[in-house]
Amino acid sequence: MEPQTTQMPRIGDKAPDFNVTTTTGPLQLSEYNKGSWVVLFSHPADFTPVCTTEMSGFAMEKEFFAANNAKLLGLSIDSIHSHIAWVNAVHEKTGVLFEFPIIADLDMHVSKLYGMLQPGESETAAVRAVFFIDPEGTIRLIMYYPLNVGRNMEEIKRVLLALQTASTHKVACPLNWQPGEKVIVPAPKTLEGLAERKASNLEMVDWYLAKKSI
Ligand code: BEZ
Repeated sequence: MEPQTTQMPRIGDKAPDFNVTTTTGPLQLSEYNKGSWVVLFSHPADFTPVCTTEMSGFAMEKEFFAANNAKLLGLSIDSIHSHIAWVNAVHEKTGVLFEFPIIADLDMHVSKLYGMLQPGESETAAVRAVFFIDPEGTIRLIMYYPLNVGRNMEEIKRVLLALQTASTHKVACPLNWQPGEKVIVPAPKTLEGLAERKASNLEMVDWYLAKKSI
């Protein structure tokens, strides 16, 4: 049998809009996205161990995301009652409260729209996806993890800051970049630009690979 093709949004695409039921009430992505970044992430199922660690990780970083103008939005193919029971159970057991909205995607509408349902991995559970959507509603970075490997919160935080830094300063972030480190400035596109680059006091490996502090 031919493998089933799955719709996969791409970096640079407008984030497909949706209206959903969440743990904090009805939500429209385009409204939620107004004026801030959205980090949209799926988990395979409520009441599962890896998912509990991941969702707790997001919840415990709520100040970081708020401070960096990013709203969290979770999702799984579970009912709203399951979500509420799970949020309550984790809160009672650990004291951690998932305050961000979690989409009850029982009809798999959003999961399919965002390529979170990857049949080779699971026909019924969303993979561990993370979509970074900028305030203009454009998808800027996508992560997909399988069911059996949890994500890395430090990397999620790092790429959010890297995306924001790259946009604000029109630069690029090199390998393993961390906030506060030098960034890469775009290579010159003319001979005049090359001469300026050579005369500049940028940290230069070569004319096309130069760094500056911001
Ligand atoms: C988990 O979160 O632990 C999990 C969920 C689905 C499949 C495997 C693991």
